[in-house]
Amino acid sequence: MNKRTKIYEGKAKILYEGPEAGTIIQFFKDDATAFNNQKHDVLEGKGALNNRFSEYFMQRIDLIGVPTHFIKRINMREQLVKKVEIIPVEVIVRNVVAGSMAKRLGLEEGMALPRSIVEFSYKDDALGDPLVSDEHVTALGWATPPELDDMIAMTLRINDFLTGLFAGIGIKLVDFKLEFGRLVEDGLMRIVLADEISPDNCRLWDIETNEKLDKDRFRRDLGGVMEAYREVAKRLGLLQEENSEIRDHKGPVLVSDNKD
Ligand code: TMP
Ligand code: ASP
Repeated sequence: MNKRTKIYEGKAKILYEGPEAGTIIQFFKDDATAFNNQKHDVLEGKGALNNRFSEYFMQRIDLIGVPTHFIKRINMREQLVKKVEIIPVEVIVRNVVAGSMAKRLGLEEGMALPRSIVEFSYKDDALGDPLVSDEHVTALGWATPPELDDMIAMTLRINDFLTGLFAGIGIKLVDFKLEFGRLVEDGLMRIVLADEISPDNCRLWDIETNEKLDKDRFRRDLGGVMEAYREVAKRLGLLQEENSEIRDHKGPVLVSDNKD
């Protein structure tokens, strides 16, 4: 094994210097945390699944014309990505009221919103990633107004695309969180989708039963976290039913085809 230089260790991932300049290796850990690390557990197999989920979504998002940092999956736990300068803002999209929005505004979880809502929080663990407005983002220089416009446009496109993709496999995309970065290529700087997309940063409910198929199972002590993640992977066609092994697959399995 080559000795690698660790750049950063987060709660769910480790970043190492990549083999070529301008690349990074993202290693997906099995650790699960919530409420800013107050709750912690190790869920065997989560890292490998999230690596696969992220590969799957990033590749498809690239195909609809939204640029991402993703280059390729290297092995079960690692993927090669382009090195970007992360914009310190989490972009959250909500299609259905849930989580902190329900709590903050005293609303019941589950109300479909007449239009998708985009929220921003400032990425700062010590402050608990506080909710901020678009004006904070530009006034405090975290992103320029054109960068923010790009982030919002890409986010809404990704939301439309993923909402349809999940609906096709019987899942409601309630909300999710994205992160973006600045990438310099051929002397030009542009904004690309970065970080990861997995059930760690989405709320996914079964369309028929509203059963939670995401990290809320961990946050709320509902049990069956990995079973839920595997169910999503199975419906996307990323897992073989018999042995739950990760496999390469060309696309989602339609719900009607997925029933035994
Ligand atoms: P929230 O309702 O707790 O604000 O979460 C909104 C969405 O963002 C939800 O899909 C979970 C995701 N999320 C993260 O990915 N990371 C976080 O640190 C938090 C708080 C939420
Ligand atoms: N990942 C975040 C943490 O560890 C929060 C979350 O996803 O709920 O605090």
